Amino acid sequence: MENLLIEKSPIPSYNREEWKRGYDSQPNEYDYWVDDMAGEIPAAFNGTLFRNGPGLLDIHGIPIKHPFDGDGMICAFTFKNGQCHFRNRFVRTEAYVAEQTMGKMLYRGVFGTAKPGGWLNNAFDLKLKNIANTNIIYWGGKLLALWEAAEPYSLNPATLETLGIDYLDGILQPGDAFAAHPRIDPSRNCLVNFAIKPGLSSKILVYELDSNGKLLASYDQIIPGFAFIHDFVITPNYCIFFQNPVGYNPFPYLFGFRGAGECVKFQDNKPTNIIVIPRQGKKVKILQVNAGFIFHHANAFEQGDNLYIDSICYQSLPQINPNTDYKEVDFDQLDPGQLWRFELNLKEETVGKTMVESRCCEFPTIHPEQVGKNYRYLFIGAAHNSTGNAPLQAILKLDLETGEKQLYSFAPHGYVSEPIFVPKPAAKTEDDGWVITLVYNGSSHRSEVVILDALDLNIGPLARLQLKHHIPYGLHGSWTGNCFI
Ligand code: CO
Repeated sequence: MENLLIEKSPIPSYNREEWKRGYDSQPNEYDYWVDDMAGEIPAAFNGTLFRNGPGLLDIHGIPIKHPFDGDGMICAFTFKNGQCHFRNRFVRTEAYVAEQTMGKMLYRGVFGTAKPGGWLNNAFDLKLKNIANTNIIYWGGKLLALWEAAEPYSLNPATLETLGIDYLDGILQPGDAFAAHPRIDPSRNCLVNFAIKPGLSSKILVYELDSNGKLLASYDQIIPGFAFIHDFVITPNYCIFFQNPVGYNPFPYLFGFRGAGECVKFQDNKPTNIIVIPRQGKKVKILQVNAGFIFHHANAFEQGDNLYIDSICYQSLPQINPNTDYKEVDFDQLDPGQLWRFELNLKEETVGKTMVESRCCEFPTIHPEQVGKNYRYLFIGAAHNSTGNAPLQAILKLDLETGEKQLYSFAPHGYVSEPIFVPKPAAKTEDDGWVITLVYNGSSHRSEVVILDALDLNIGPLARLQLKHHIPYGLHGSWTGNCFI
């Protein structure tokens, strides 16, 4: 149990200069067995962890404006017989290849990166740079790098060689989008993902793919207003979307002053629309609640007429002033992500909400069999201190039934990425598994892979595998039981 009570504005648990270096580019591509290991990899821990995130934070020396604009770099950690093999490769997107070949920045970034030459050189250049940097998933025999505004890229899972844009055997057309947050429905063993076509009114498209990647169902829904929706949740009967209360003014983007993402404005006087789309038949319902801004959801489940959704909420959209370097961000000026539970009654059309965890947290993970079902355990990246906004340095385990918490912190030098829960082969309880995460160490400027026992985080890492170099702070990843090597 973790029951430290710390006053507001605690002493920082991190050193900003160390933290900043986690945003150094990693232009090199490696391939090696990790031999610098403390502890032991559990014998039954076999499979591959794939991770995606920006590998380049500069283009030939010119810094990008926001890490979300960085070219996607895939890391594969393959675990076999107590050993770990590491490999990383950039996704050879059309834009990455062009910029690396030409030796200069050729594209604007969605989150504010501008080509050199001022606004005149950027105005009316609306070509989208598909950077394939947000998530990576192995499904239907394909390894897909995902970025929500464009088509996925497929890669060879054993070599990470880029195979090209993948239209999912005709499910997608050129120019279509495919979100970076698919959900795997354990009851039907299908992948459910969506795409957003934003506009004055927006369209949500949903795709359901079977285990071979074939289309099982697709449906769409027009919703009023501009939609900025990064993630969603599923239950056996519903897909649930939270339409964040934001407005969009495209003109600074069109005229070259701002990136498209910088033209999104949070509207704190407006509610969030919760869009409940039935997976079969019935009518769509739109309910309203004040939820702040949401990037990620943890899970959702049905109980009678009620739907429960657990989400990470920010009081407002965390945005950095366009004139500020993201590495100089004042954490105290931004709202922390906090975990809330929403309770929807579909009959009465009411919404209630309760805060579950006030500690700054992001990147939730749960047992894959519990997706869409009532569940007990949640694991999430968290700040070291219980109050205030800060980089994620710890892994937090929440028992949603008893309220018990466990916290394992890598402060002061360690910065965690998204944890992933991997069930043990003969698991007896929902939390009988491992939690794996990549930790950037700011004092050694190297990253390590850490395996924790999900039953008890307090016993500390079972294994710490030191890489020979650092991996820049990443976004999302996934686990497969296949040992790709
Ligand atoms: Co995300």
